[in-house]
Amino acid sequence: MKRFCLSMLMIACVHATMAQTTQISVSGATTGATVSPALHGIFFEEISHGGEGGLYGELIQNRGFEESKIPEGCTLDSGFIRPPRTPHYSAGRVVDWAMPFEAKNDYPAWSLATGGGAVARLALDLSQPLYPETPRSLKVAITSVPHTGNVSVVNEGFWGISVQQDAAYTLTFYSRAEKYHGSITARLVGANGKMLAEHVFERARGDGWKKYTATLRARAGDARATFQLSFSRPGTVWLDFVSLFPVKTFRDRANGLRPDLAQYLADLKPAFVRWPGGCFVEGISPQSAPNWKKSLGPVERRPGTYSPWGYWSSDGLGYHEFLQFCEDVGADAMYVFNCGVSCEMRSGVYVEDEHLDTLVTSTLDAIEYALGPPDSRWGRVRARQGHPEPFPLRYVEVGNEQAGERYARRFNIFYKAIKEKYPQLEVLAAMGIAHLSQPTIRTIEKMDIADEHAYKAAGWAMAYADWYDKYPRKDWRLYVGEYACNAGVGAGNMTAALNDATFILGLERNSDLVTMSSYAPLLENVHDTDWPVNLIRFDAARSFARISYYAIRMLNEHKASVNLATQVTVPADTVTPAFTGRIGLSTWDTQTEYKDVEVTHNGRVVYQSGVIRKEDWRLTGGQWEVRDSVLAQTKEGAWPLALLEGRSFDTYTLTLKARKTGGYNAFMIPFAFRDDQQYMRVHLGAWLNKVAVFETVTKGVDAIVSQPVRLEKPFELNRWYTIELRVGTTTVACYVDGSLLMTYHKPADLFAIAGRDDKTGEVVVKVVNAVGHARPASIAVSDLTLEPTGTAVVLAADTPDDENSFEQPTRFVPQTTPVPGIGRRFDYVFKPWSVTVLRARIKRPSPR
Ligand code: AHR
Repeated sequence: MKRFCLSMLMIACVHATMAQTTQISVSGATTGATVSPALHGIFFEEISHGGEGGLYGELIQNRGFEESKIPEGCTLDSGFIRPPRTPHYSAGRVVDWAMPFEAKNDYPAWSLATGGGAVARLALDLSQPLYPETPRSLKVAITSVPHTGNVSVVNEGFWGISVQQDAAYTLTFYSRAEKYHGSITARLVGANGKMLAEHVFERARGDGWKKYTATLRARAGDARATFQLSFSRPGTVWLDFVSLFPVKTFRDRANGLRPDLAQYLADLKPAFVRWPGGCFVEGISPQSAPNWKKSLGPVERRPGTYSPWGYWSSDGLGYHEFLQFCEDVGADAMYVFNCGVSCEMRSGVYVEDEHLDTLVTSTLDAIEYALGPPDSRWGRVRARQGHPEPFPLRYVEVGNEQAGERYARRFNIFYKAIKEKYPQLEVLAAMGIAHLSQPTIRTIEKMDIADEHAYKAAGWAMAYADWYDKYPRKDWRLYVGEYACNAGVGAGNMTAALNDATFILGLERNSDLVTMSSYAPLLENVHDTDWPVNLIRFDAARSFARISYYAIRMLNEHKASVNLATQVTVPADTVTPAFTGRIGLSTWDTQTEYKDVEVTHNGRVVYQSGVIRKEDWRLTGGQWEVRDSVLAQTKEGAWPLALLEGRSFDTYTLTLKARKTGGYNAFMIPFAFRDDQQYMRVHLGAWLNKVAVFETVTKGVDAIVSQPVRLEKPFELNRWYTIELRVGTTTVACYVDGSLLMTYHKPADLFAIAGRDDKTGEVVVKVVNAVGHARPASIAVSDLTLEPTGTAVVLAADTPDDENSFEQPTRFVPQTTPVPGIGRRFDYVFKPWSVTVLRARIKRPSPR
């Protein structure tokens, strides 16, 4: 097996002499990394109501009235949840972190509706719990209900309840009555007040908690219905655990999942499912972090978990349901457990190393629940839940996004304990919030897989297409546990999909190292978005998957067994300048002066600022003034921008003088400014005056797109520097005081990998064309003979801003067409803004 290095093989921008078409050469005889079957999985987290009010089928919000309780181990202080004020795990001192408590009142999502002169009152009550673990209930004190009056308790669902005509819903609730001799009527009511379904319980029954069940069948549908329980007489009624479930759930499981959302996940054919997070795993205090044991058994008795994303999960989608889902979709399970530290980006409360025994035991118990024989302690509990066979648990991860030596020492404790009992399990180490953490790696004695995260802005994947080619290989593998292009792409669009697809090609090519990956986050209820870009978006009634979803799905579906050496030669466009646009001046947390701005083209001066005139510049952000014939930016803060009015340049040399007068960094020179949405800039003295980098700004989001160049010494205060940008057709060179500091090369915009699918006997070529014009290509496959007709699966959009939507959920999905004329060398035109998979059957090995 050879490992191909992208820099050697993939991008060869040559002058367009031999051919104007892109050349893709695949060597059928040179195999690379075996493509890991565990690429690609999914990552579920309770974020943006991904589970509660999302994947989990329950339609009633706050069904157990537990949602106004303060997360365990925390206190409520002026509307904020405060964890214990103990020293932070990595900061070593008390950090005064707190988060707003979102519960609107004592019984969120519930309200009282009275009419016709009826009088009643609601109150949260803990006096006679249904179960000690879930002590809260709703007390409905009805003072009077005139003949024509009404008293109803209304649940708003999760931003409405989606009721479908003719569908059946299972209602369950518990009630206790005192001096109440009336009926209880359950109804689904449309947003316009129309009754959609009704069931009357003629008489509330006696003392103590009683369970009520019924099936509600909807005569009509409504996307934003409410659920109501109405009372006909005065008296006092307590309610608890009011649950409404569609009879139809994914795979018809009781306490199951919302079918459309679960189907999206199943269609991804995930190799594994990571659960339950994310920051959710970390919690905001060790006591409030998820506890798998409390997510088992009767749903009425599950106290729930407070998500650090600001809401309660009922834990209806608990550990057992997660394992069941993995089995249902044929995926391995990855269980991430809290390792005794709450989220370090938040509170960082922790349990000392010497008190980890309980957590270690709890983890081993969780594993036993999944894998133990039915006569083991926890295997028996699983069997009692109706599942005597083991579940497909294959991976466990020690915490989420922890890193550093202290974490690594803790990891070693868990690793040893787990491997001793379950050597077959793969144990993953977290690596913090981004790339591999070297202090963690140095201190870890042994790990199976490292989990690094890669949230990137638009353009990063193209600029760093060879990112994983360069990683040294060790005795462990890499899991990119959370990745997404999620900045500069709105709520996700075709640009994001092209970035994600390019990133995935890099993963697959480097599959000897990167054996697993999962996009994040997966699910978003659009009424409570906690994260800017998510894969599948939904409300109570509708859902759609973003183009990125389809890109991931098609690349996963068409995974090869082994990579084949692939060389891409894109004819360099030596004619069309890549950096056409306006120029500007800017700063970041720095006060700076600029003067003597001059632009030359072919040695001829085409612009000269002379004595700077304010009216020549469009000045936004910061505080700009002209003083002593220089343009000065005098305020700290981000995003000040002076844009030269009315002039656009294509290839040119920009020279100017710059002097720093205060602040943290130094100079920023925007260029290639096409519109407010997209431009580039040179940042000299970034990272507190330590490095120089090229950056892109897309829709107000910046991304570093060049290797940072470390400055020999910081830019000095009150010294004039001469800065020169030599902007060519495809390169930008930056000089300071006559010395070349760094050069930026326009990144490739076509990416390809190829492989052999040994299951089907096909060659698979995957191509991302990240530009807005069609790409004629000549594809040559050596050392293999291909059948004359193949297939193309194409995911394309009209513009980089395109995206699927609720209105047009499948506007941009892959299209499959036959490809005739396949041979040793064949032509194919890649669509603008597209991800393409070409498949061709291998006839027989060609004679050498
Ligand atoms: O996916 C959203 C969040 O990003 C996860 O909770 C966390 O692990 C990461 O920082």
